Amino acid sequence: MTDDGGEVDPEEQEFLRLYGPWQPWEVAEAVDALKGIDSPWWVAGGHAIEAFTGVGRPHDDIDVALFVDDLPALRSHFAGRFDLWSAGGGALRPVTDTWPDLHEHSQQVWLREHAGAPWVADLVMSERRDGAWVFARDPDYAVPLGDATWVDDAGVRFLKPEIVLAYKAKLTRPKDDDDFAATWPLLDERARGWLRDVLTRLYPDHPWHHRMSAPAEPVGRAGQLVRLREATLADAVLVDAWDKPAAQSEFNDFGLPPPDPLAEQLAHGRRMVGSTKGKLLVERCADGVLLGDVGWHQVSYGPNPESKAVNIGISLVREVRGKGYGAEAQRLLAALLFDLYRDVVRVEASTDVENLPEQRALEKAGFSRDGVIRQAQFRRGGYHDMVVYSVIRDDLPRG
Ligand SMILES: CC(C)(COP(=O)(O)OP(=O)(O)OC[C@H]1O[C@@H](n2cnc3c(N)ncnc32)[C@H](O)[C@@H]1OP(=O)(O)O)[C@@H](O)C(=O)NCCC(=O)NCCS
Repeated sequence: MTDDGGEVDPEEQEFLRLYGPWQPWEVAEAVDALKGIDSPWWVAGGHAIEAFTGVGRPHDDIDVALFVDDLPALRSHFAGRFDLWSAGGGALRPVTDTWPDLHEHSQQVWLREHAGAPWVADLVMSERRDGAWVFARDPDYAVPLGDATWVDDAGVRFLKPEIVLAYKAKLTRPKDDDDFAATWPLLDERARGWLRDVLTRLYPDHPWHHRMSAPAEPVGRAGQLVRLREATLADAVLVDAWDKPAAQSEFNDFGLPPPDPLAEQLAHGRRMVGSTKGKLLVERCADGVLLGDVGWHQVSYGPNPESKAVNIGISLVREVRGKGYGAEAQRLLAALLFDLYRDVVRVEASTDVENLPEQRALEKAGFSRDGVIRQAQFRRGGYHDMVVYSVIRDDLPRG
């Protein structure tokens, strides 16, 4: 029995007895441990899915990948700190001066501090051919590493989600199905096409095929005055201009660099809508003119998943303010978020105590004023008091 009363899988018990315990790194620990290494590395597996979808999931391990010809660099990076063991086919052999290479069945390197310490990482040693990353399941597919990976806001490189799914397709454990369900709706057409092709070639009878043939459902919601919709390539010029620091209103100016250009983000298979954050454009129903955007991100009021809420924000271009668009856009967004995220019971918005138009717009949108949080936001060189508003699921009309 485990501490929480669950049965221990006998296979897992035997694994532990033979190889010793695991205490895998979190992504931040991997970043810390690999800081300064002069070889590219990237995170694959479940952590890469979580980073892309924003959907939290349990992790048994962390899959960090490097090129196999960087093994000597890896060794010298960890010298004196971690032992490297070449792992595969059930066999483990230390990577030492006597055996500097991986053993013949190995494509992985396990890492631990010493023989009495738990294993912390399973490093996948990936093939590099003519400088390109090679897809191990289909070695004809080789592309520059930049095309097989993406980099998050913190600078951590992750394997693209469609490639992670292509690896996972071989196994189809329940957690792989969950990863597919969380990822597929967020993939763009290019990424979907790639995954469809690969699975058709490698696993023609795969159960994911029928789920992949369903049409993509763009996220959006229409009201009387405005419609919320996902951005497309055609919106790139306008959206990038709005994201420029100089275009920010006094209430949205955080002195941060703009995000990557929209075209670049779409080209890397990212949709603007995820489970923990997203952005939609606000378009006028009457003539299709774009008025601004709304965004959201998940916030947490406790360490358990039930304590999450969604915080929203909005920005409309100056000329169209004061015509009721902001109120309707935020009312539509709150309703949409409750539909999209079935487990969320609170949608909130906070705004500067001096931002009276936004406070009025939120009230018109059906939000209730929760109170003032003092000195909560730093903008333009000073801390500002914020008013917090919220709408909770029970506030919505039934149906
Ligand atoms: C805040 C914002 C989204 C509101 O959108 P909007 O379309 O202008 O809002 P609405 O027209 O629906 O409602 C604004 C209300 O504020 C009122 N208002 C405007 N200026 C006001 C002022 N100085 N004092 C009090 N109320 C004011 C308007 O009269 C209107 O209320 P009414 O319909 O009862 O007359 C928009 O003004 C904006 O993008 N501002 C810049 C970015 C921003 O501040 N974002 C929020 C950051 S947290």
